[in-house]
Amino acid sequence: MIKLAVVGAGHWGPNLIRNFSQGTTSQVRWVVDSDAKRLEVTRSRFPEVQVTQDLAQALADKEVSGVVISTPTSTHYPITKAALEAGKHVLVEKPITADAAHGDELVALAQKQGRLLMVGHVFLFNPAVQKVRKYLEEGSLGQLHYISMVRTNLGPIRMDVNAAWDLASHDVSIANYWLGATPVAVSATGGTWINEGIADAIFATFRYPNNVLVNLHASWLNPRKARDITVVGEKRMLTFDDMNLLEPIRVYDKQVTDARTKPAFIDTFGGFRSSVREGDITIPKVNMGEPLRAECDHFIECIAAGKQPLTGGKEGVAVVRALEALTRSMKSSGREETL
Ligand SMILES: NC(=O)c1ccc[n+]([C@@H]2O[C@H](COP(=O)([O-])OP(=O)(O)OC[C@H]3O[C@@H](n4cnc5c(N)ncnc54)[C@H](O)[C@@H]3O)[C@@H](O)[C@H]2O)c1
Repeated sequence: MIKLAVVGAGHWGPNLIRNFSQGTTSQVRWVVDSDAKRLEVTRSRFPEVQVTQDLAQALADKEVSGVVISTPTSTHYPITKAALEAGKHVLVEKPITADAAHGDELVALAQKQGRLLMVGHVFLFNPAVQKVRKYLEEGSLGQLHYISMVRTNLGPIRMDVNAAWDLASHDVSIANYWLGATPVAVSATGGTWINEGIADAIFATFRYPNNVLVNLHASWLNPRKARDITVVGEKRMLTFDDMNLLEPIRVYDKQVTDARTKPAFIDTFGGFRSSVREGDITIPKVNMGEPLRAECDHFIECIAAGKQPLTGGKEGVAVVRALEALTRSMKSSGREETL
């Protein structure tokens, strides 16, 4: 039985408390929150858990071997550092830190302490995301051309980070995982309307190795909740709609072929046109479980077996580095920034 402290019981924290409390190999001993009202709510929902406003009290508990952090991004660095220094394993929510240098420092600290540092990039535990990665690994889409990702909703509006850090952090983690690479450059534009200095909508294009483009639109100022991804390969294409829980993926057997056709008349654009091939659209079976449950189970398994996690500190810092370059580009009116 691995005993845990969960820090932060706001919107997301209770999902972590629930999953770790339901697991047969984990138990939540402490919930820490600086807001006494959130602790009252926690106590009524999880009466078996001890609550405190004092992080040091939970860290001093020798029975606790892991700390799960679900506080605002700006607080991730000091809380993670304190937990690692106290000899605890850490699962910290995404993004790992608000700056890459702090992230690197935490990765080095975890290594020095011989403790696990995992980041809650929950989409990597989504079976549909894993299925797409398999297609890409097998090369069944052919040479990859581009990925387009849309993540929109009306709210929740953050005060400590912009829409890129809150929403696009998911998409960058997915793209890095699918492509097995990190971006080399990015150009981005952001729009700010609600809170001064905090972009509500961002439009960004990342360049990855092998001439792959990844385009992101992330916004909390949009009437429609959308989680749409399109992956375009040379031989096949696919769509992933995370709002469609039953049939999230469609694979389109469509491509532009090498065969060039002669049009019926000669137009000003040249005598030959590429032709397209349109085959079947298939909907693979995806066994959807709760991705957060899989993430929590993975954290416990990695602690028990001394394994490196799928979403470790290094992977988390790679996402932060991409978001930093995106932020630089937004500040310079969309100039392409290299990573
Ligand atoms: N993986 C996901 O899909 C997902 C979804 C939502 C949020 N998140 C992440 O979870 C984290 C929390 O987001 P949220 O929506 O729950 O935010 P929130 O503001 O609703 O909750 C944060 C909680 O942390 C508490 N807190 C703040 N500073 C603290 C400190 N120094 N010590 C102890 N408690 C402190 C607050 O009182 C609050 O109860 C963020 O990093 C966010 O990016 C992840």
